[in-house]
Amino acid sequence: MSRPQKRVVRLRVNGEDHELAVSPHETLLEALRYGLRLTGSKQGCDKGDCGACTVRLDGAPVLSCLTLALEAEGREVVTIEGLARGAALDPVQAAFDECGALQCGFCQSGMMISARALLDRTPSPTLGEIKEALSGNLCRCTGYTKILEAVQVAAGQCRPGEGPVGDGLGRRRT
Ligand code: FES
Ligand code: FES
Repeated sequence: MSRPQKRVVRLRVNGEDHELAVSPHETLLEALRYGLRLTGSKQGCDKGDCGACTVRLDGAPVLSCLTLALEAEGREVVTIEGLARGAALDPVQAAFDECGALQCGFCQSGMMISARALLDRTPSPTLGEIKEALSGNLCRCTGYTKILEAVQVAAGQCRPGEGPVGDGLGRRRT
């Protein structure tokens, strides 16, 4: 049986243009990790369950293991490698660091991409909105409390060690 022919696609990733030969069934995650050597997006379940592979596609968080590389052609892809601005961490990255919101770290890049996308569309989310935005990102170390706190710290809603605040039902403490 002959292999499906590869096609050259132009991918714009973290503000840089790349040309890459991909096969029709190749996922965006595979193209990023094995074609472009951007290994920050993790290959967890590879079937849409864990969120470790989350990247932004035209601003929206998507599961790159369920997205074909061909679908990303001509669109803006942002991975965890593109979150910092030079030496300056994104506030989400800084907050995860300050709050110790990681254990093994495997879920962390997907969590931070989802959190960044949330804060871009909703700068001051409720705890319920944060939980909903991160609901597709699973942490096998179950460090959720610190992760929720980190997102609130990034949003300026509390300080490290003080969160998460709110009842998760869309109301914040006053
Ligand atoms: S690797 Fe994509 S959802 Fe798990
Ligand atoms: S810190 Fe280990 S999977 Fe989340």
